[in-house]
Order: sequence, then C-alpha cells, then structure tokens
Amino acid sequence: MKHVGVVPIEALAGDALALLEYAPHHVLVALVNGVPCAIEDSCSHAGASLATGHRHGFIVACPLHAYRFDLRTGELLSPRRACAHQRRFEAVVVGDMVHVYDPFTLVVSPVLP
Ligand code: FES
Repeated sequence: MKHVGVVPIEALAGDALALLEYAPHHVLVALVNGVPCAIEDSCSHAGASLATGHRHGFIVACPLHAYRFDLRTGELLSPRRACAHQRRFEAVVVGDMVHVYDPFTLVVSPVLP
C-alpha cells in the first residue's frame, strides 16, 4: 500500500472534513464516531470536491448536486446508481495523526517481445 499522507487529528474535530492532496482526485478525510475514514474527494458524478460539501454524521452531501455518500465506505446513498461509489482509502490513527494509505497499487510491467 502506498502512503498518501497525514492529517492532524485535531484538524478533524467537530465533524470537520479535511482534504489531502493526492492527484488527480485527492482524498477526503474525516472522523466518524472517532474512527478515521478516507474516500476519494472528487465526486464521481461531475468532479466537485466533497471536502467542500455538507456533512451530516456519516454522510457527506456533494456541494454541486447534493448526491450523498457514506464517509465510512464511499457508497453512493442517493440517488441510487446515479453514478459510481467513491473509492475508499485506508486510514489509521498513529499518535495524534491520521495516516492515509492507498490500498490499490498499480504495477506496470514492461511489455516483452
Ligand atoms: S458533482 Fe457531485 S453530485 Fe454532481
């Protein structure tokens, strides 16, 4: 797994949403009941930043068209099947920081003749 970056846990207090730069789609980091969560930030519908969306508990609503995603899983909750789920990242607390990892590692092998 690739290490994406860290977010200070204090930056996630009070239901805050944090953006972690990870081109091209970046990562949205949050705490849900004290558990760190990380999903792709760019909305799968039309690319708006979910970090600027509206949060209600474990749900984040996109600021552009209000599609709602589960912060814990990246699942699109509504409208159902209107677009893809958000990709989920691994997030763990170490000390006073949330570390985020990309579980998907693309391995490109050279094409052999
Ligand atoms: S860009 Fe997010 S719902 Fe349309």
